[in-house]
Amino acid sequence: MAASGKRPEHRGPPELFYDETEARKYTHNSRMIEIQSQMSERAVELLGLPEDRPCFLLDVGCGSGLSGDYISEEGHYWVGMDISPAMLDVAIEREVEGDLMLTDMGQGIPFRPGAFDGCISISAVQWLCNADKKTHRPPKRLYRFFSTLYTALARGARAVLQLYPENSQQLELITTQAMKAGFTGGMVVDYPNSAKAKKFFLCLFVGPTAVLPKGLGTECSDEETAQAKFIRERIRFKNAKGQSVKKSRDWVLEKKERRRRQGKEVRADTRYTGRKRRPHF
Ligand SMILES: C[S@@+](CC[C@H](N)C(=O)[O-])C[C@H]1O[C@@H](n2cnc3c(N)ncnc32)[C@H](O)[C@@H]1O
Repeated sequence: MAASGKRPEHRGPPELFYDETEARKYTHNSRMIEIQSQMSERAVELLGLPEDRPCFLLDVGCGSGLSGDYISEEGHYWVGMDISPAMLDVAIEREVEGDLMLTDMGQGIPFRPGAFDGCISISAVQWLCNADKKTHRPPKRLYRFFSTLYTALARGARAVLQLYPENSQQLELITTQAMKAGFTGGMVVDYPNSAKAKKFFLCLFVGPTAVLPKGLGTECSDEETAQAKFIRERIRFKNAKGQSVKKSRDWVLEKKERRRRQGKEVRADTRYTGRKRRPHF
């Protein structure tokens, strides 16, 4: 992905685009890091995971593991797969918590049936629309990806794939192959009227159709507008070194607010919220 957060204008295999120079940006370019974290957060939100237990997730095109870091922060476990050795080297260097696998998603998801509680993917799946080798047939590769992903997910699980389609034909090709593989669901478009902030999230369900979540920035009522605005202007809690101050009062309050927006039951805020508990003996 380019530093602007837009789809790379690149012809050729992804493993050549995501070389050492590109991979370095995922440790040095703060805008890039911020965009990856934001999109990962939204993808995990759209997964609608259960509150009461840690989940086991797959990150397709996990790259440097920035998206995986968000999954870990939320208390879940993950495995990442990626085709680029340079990106995975960065993930190893960053000592991410997930297990990593060098593999091409177009060849399928090599895990046992029902292994995962959910799957996310950030700016990766549109690469399958390109025929980088003579033997590549994009519809076949997409179908292999989606059908094996379907098998690897537990019943009732979701896959949320953020992607940058080049045109409406690509969008149709991707969604058709996903539905053919057995998924239900559809596309959630955040901020559809903003050229800069517009984001496509393909939300796929294994099993009966669930209600498709609404895209951000799509409603005009006061409450909804405020909600979207708040999300867009989300405050990140960082110390002087730019590191996240996790478990601080502000961090806890913001997390509770986010869960309220998701319609989840959250305890009222009190003066004790975010306070460290004394250890029990
Ligand atoms: C925008 S990056 C994702 C970055 C990642 N979310 C992170 O936190 O660093 C897209 C990733 O998709 C991967 N990718 C593209 N085509 C792929 C394929 N066929 N199989 C596996 N990974 C692929 C690229 O190598 C790249 O690392």
